[in-house]
Amino acid sequence: MLSSQARFLIASLGLNAALGQASRLPPRQDVVTVTHTVASATPQPTVYDWAAGATTAYPIHGSCNATERALLSKGLNDAITLAAHAKDHVLRFGNSSEFYTKYFGASPTAEVIGWYDKIVSADRSGTWFRCDDIDGNCVQDGWGGHWRGENATQETVICPLSYTTRMPLEGLCGYGYSVASGALNFYFGSDLIHRLFHLPRIGEEIVEHYADSYGECLDLALNDPALAVRNSHTLQYFALDVYAFDIALPGEGCTGRPTETENSEAPSYTTSAPTECHTHADGTKHCT
Ligand SMILES: *[C@@H]1O[C@H](CO)[C@@H](O)[C@H](O)[C@H]1NC(C)=O
Ligand SMILES: *[C@@H]1O[C@H](CO)[C@@H](O)[C@H](O)[C@H]1NC(C)=O
Ligand SMILES: *[C@@H]1O[C@H](CO)[C@@H](O)[C@H](O)[C@H]1NC(C)=O
Repeated sequence: MLSSQARFLIASLGLNAALGQASRLPPRQDVVTVTHTVASATPQPTVYDWAAGATTAYPIHGSCNATERALLSKGLNDAITLAAHAKDHVLRFGNSSEFYTKYFGASPTAEVIGWYDKIVSADRSGTWFRCDDIDGNCVQDGWGGHWRGENATQETVICPLSYTTRMPLEGLCGYGYSVASGALNFYFGSDLIHRLFHLPRIGEEIVEHYADSYGECLDLALNDPALAVRNSHTLQYFALDVYAFDIALPGEGCTGRPTETENSEAPSYTTSAPTECHTHADGTKHCT
């Protein structure tokens, strides 16, 4: 004689066979089926959401530990703060700003505003900041990080050196720093502006190295303003100079003067601060 449980099972199987495929699921999955029915009965959004799927924060790779992640997030926020203020300064004063003409000469303002806004607001999907030294470059003396170039054009490696040497934006004008004599990578935020422009998603392979030292950047403003607005270092110098004058030390800033050797062969800041190198798409190495 069958137990009542076994009889129920046989009856269930018979019923399932009679009802066909849909009901051949065991009772627990029938519940799941019901749940799905309820879910699909939920009204679907009918309004097109243009911003769906946007990546609004710069992605930090899982290879970064908690310390690196915290400091890198802070640095990226500093980069955004610097770029946002540089944009605001140009929107407020246009080419009537002496800072503007000093760095960008007679160029119209819209392209400058646009490059800073790319850093502030562009979608960040596909870009990565990673900490795993995947290309094996961090062992090289003085390397704070590098653009991955041909290995991954939208990726940047940040080496351990950055976390122990790059200063916070709150310290702008401190530590004996001045814009004219200081290193562009002295502050993590301005260092990262440079790295962000290397990503094609941000710099569009248009923002590049056209002049390097402070003096060379000022010359470029006079001699080729159309290139000055696309010069990576010029965009860093301007952002630092106006943030210093408008925000850090209001009405005073810390423009300073170039050091003596500035006008000779090598920019002096390479000796006074940790160097930062990266490799360009054409394979050339560049250190600042
Ligand atoms: C500033 O921009 C205006 C056009 O808006 C232009 O006429 C003028 O020449 C510019 N001044 C400088 C110093 O570039
Ligand atoms: C790309 O990867 C190769 C092989 O790992 C490495 O030698 C090269 O330096 C990397 N390129 C960059 C820009 O790091
Ligand atoms: C994270 O990595 C850095 C090297 O970049 C190291 O100095 C630090 O101790 C690590 N932090 C933790 C919490 O493991």
